[in-house]
Amino acid sequence: MIRAYYKEALKEPVFTTISEAAKELSLDCYVIGGFVRDLLLERGIPKDIDIVAVGSGIELAKKVASLTPGKPEVTVFKNFGTAMFKYQDKEVEFVGARKESYNRDSRNPVVENGTLEDDQKRRDFTINALALSLNEDNFGMLVDPFQGVSDLKTKLIRTPLDPTITYSDDPLRMLRAIRFASQLNFTIEPRSLEAISENKDRIKIISNERIVDELNKILMSNVPSVGFKLLHQTRLMGMILPELIALQGIEEVEGQRHKDNFWHTLEVVDNIARTTDNLWLRWAALLHDIGKAPTKRFDKKNGWTFHAHEFVGSKMVYKLFKRLHMPLNEKMKFVQKMVLMSSRPIVLSEDFVTDSAVRRLVFDAGDYVDDLMTLCEADITTKNPRKQKKYKNNFSIVRQKIEEVEERDHIRNFQPPVSGEEIMQTFGLSPSREIGMIKDAIKEAILEGEIPNEYEAAKAYMIQKAKAMGLAK
Ligand code: CTP
Repeated sequence: MIRAYYKEALKEPVFTTISEAAKELSLDCYVIGGFVRDLLLERGIPKDIDIVAVGSGIELAKKVASLTPGKPEVTVFKNFGTAMFKYQDKEVEFVGARKESYNRDSRNPVVENGTLEDDQKRRDFTINALALSLNEDNFGMLVDPFQGVSDLKTKLIRTPLDPTITYSDDPLRMLRAIRFASQLNFTIEPRSLEAISENKDRIKIISNERIVDELNKILMSNVPSVGFKLLHQTRLMGMILPELIALQGIEEVEGQRHKDNFWHTLEVVDNIARTTDNLWLRWAALLHDIGKAPTKRFDKKNGWTFHAHEFVGSKMVYKLFKRLHMPLNEKMKFVQKMVLMSSRPIVLSEDFVTDSAVRRLVFDAGDYVDDLMTLCEADITTKNPRKQKKYKNNFSIVRQKIEEVEERDHIRNFQPPVSGEEIMQTFGLSPSREIGMIKDAIKEAILEGEIPNEYEAAKAYMIQKAKAMGLAK
């Protein structure tokens, strides 16, 4: 066997310190997992360092910390037999090598001490089971008993053990397999893929938070559809995001068909992944059409319609976030807003674009008008090059109009040019419904372009309106 060494990659002082500490404690230790994988993939030097000790990981962690400048504080997770500390920009985690078997109904392992190879065997994938020695006599040597390097080269996700065992030990790994395939553009070995389909129901024992972590990572990959197609293929999707599965399929009535909104959605997500790294905008792309399943209708006059699907979809966003224990904060509201407004620029771009329609769009979208345009541009999935060009061109006209109107009218973050206070003082009124009506009328007149968004014009309009309402002479 050819021995490969990666001494260069272990130049950071932290590795020398770990090596010294291990020598003092007379135990062997290795850097393992994502650090080694990302190093060999040349994805940059990872910040998280996982160390496995053949002996007590906790003792090693304490020893290393005591030899490190500033003596960082060690956090011990006794139940898991792990310990970690932060040093500069790195997080170093220590664990003792173990043989493990898991409880079928939870992810809590029954732990027994083991050799390095025992530990590598119980890891999720061969590419995550690679270890580099930190021992004095063979410092930097790669230990790869399951051909992980070869899998890195052929871009293969493979489990060290029979995949049924690996996945049923920890079902989160099914999602990890799909996430790594999407992040790294790897293929999942066929037997592994089969095992995921067979064990898909076991995902039920995994917490929503962990599931969402993986979904977020899939969404943040360069081509997220790789992951979503695998979720679909293994039928995990139906258990996690049934709203998307409901979009699948094309129906035909009297020769009229609608598009398959599931595959369309995946294209939209890939499109948006090319233009933004905003996770929540990517979520909006994923969910922008979910209201189409419950609102789908056919009638002879109109053919297929999805009336008010944006409104229904935005309500579904809340339920979906709640079910998956996602944040119900301004991020969720942003996704809802994007879904609710997702057709607005499209309607605009189909017609002659009036200034007032653009002003209303900017008023309603506020700070998110650019994000909304990005979503709508990603929504163009027509395969007809002539239409593709036309839609893109129309949107660039809308964008230009937004800029022009914004420069002139400052509608974004609209502040009423005349305050309620001033209306009350001018006409000697106390707080009442009429004040709101006048304020609203001024806003409408500005959005319609009847008056400019300026104080003098708004004041004159206020007087005119108050007279019409019989509040002033
Ligand atoms: N691991 C595992 N099974 C899991 C989670 C993790 O076997 N369900 C092992 C793998 O060897 C993995 C290591 O623990 O490489 C560290 O896990 P983690 O930090 O979650 O992931 P990384 O592989 O480092 O990758 P990333 O940082 O991209 O999540």
